Amino acid sequence: MNDSDPTPTDVALVTGGGQGIGAAICHRLGSDGFHVVVNDLATDRAESTAASIVEAGGSASSVVADVSDSAAVNAMFDEIEGTVGVVSALVNNAGIGGNAAIRNVTDEDWGRVLGVDLTSAFFCSRRALDSMREERRGTIVNITSRAWLGWWGQSTYASAKAGMVGLTRALAVEMSSRSIRVNAIAPGLIDTPLLRNRTEEALARLLKSVPVGRLGQPEDIASAVSFLSSERSRTITGQVLYVGGGKSVYAYPDWPDAR
Ligand SMILES: NC(=O)c1ccc[n+]([C@@H]2O[C@H](COP(=O)([O-])OP(=O)(O)OC[C@H]3O[C@@H](n4cnc5c(N)ncnc54)[C@H](O)[C@@H]3O)[C@@H](O)[C@H]2O)c1
Repeated sequence: MNDSDPTPTDVALVTGGGQGIGAAICHRLGSDGFHVVVNDLATDRAESTAASIVEAGGSASSVVADVSDSAAVNAMFDEIEGTVGVVSALVNNAGIGGNAAIRNVTDEDWGRVLGVDLTSAFFCSRRALDSMREERRGTIVNITSRAWLGWWGQSTYASAKAGMVGLTRALAVEMSSRSIRVNAIAPGLIDTPLLRNRTEEALARLLKSVPVGRLGQPEDIASAVSFLSSERSRTITGQVLYVGGGKSVYAYPDWPDAR
């Protein structure tokens, strides 16, 4: 253990940690020395991620809650603080996709995507900061998406993820005097069930838009979260780190007209 390692009592909470990017983040923070609280909507997924961290020699527990529900979020934090302690590293990762031309987006679609992909981060951050503020330390990492820059069929998702960038920057300023840092990571195309939920043809076309020509792995995002949740990044706050094979710089415009 050195100066930048978490102490044995440091608690990390990862929302949507049951699979994909969230599960990789949980594993990485577990091996970094955090007690990891794995949140998910799905009980079996949350429990299995926590169990595999413990099996690997780490410390973890699970909590089931819908993070788009304010009361459920507050109850989740109360439970965590009553059992393992105050969350010092929050990762707002839970998210759902939204892929439709605007003419096909219903009021319900808009509300659901904004609720899970943006409002959840507000609910969790607000509650986590109540305790972090008193402790005068902590980190928040918001998992946004490269899609916030704009892409076909992404009006709901891009709006939610752009909102996350605004939330990150505003909270970074608001919390700076308390030594609490808030950053965002914008993944490009990462190989997870959320991405695989497409046809092979659609996936192949998407891959053409990645300058490095390959999908990222969940561990690539986990390693960036590990950095932003540690003292190694102690002078970094309010930033968006793109982890996406150069897709934020240049995206090959081979895409059918979806208008
Ligand atoms: N996979 C990609 O290419 C990619 C790219 C950019 C950004 N992202 C973002 O990364 C994050 C993780 O994506 P993923 O690909 O691992 O997704 P995923 O669908 O594989 O996993 C998401 C997890 O979140 C959980 N979840 C969903 N809604 C929830 C809620 N309301 N409360 C609690 N848990 C909930 C799900 O049960 C699931 O276990 C998301 O925010 C996503 O938008 C993913």
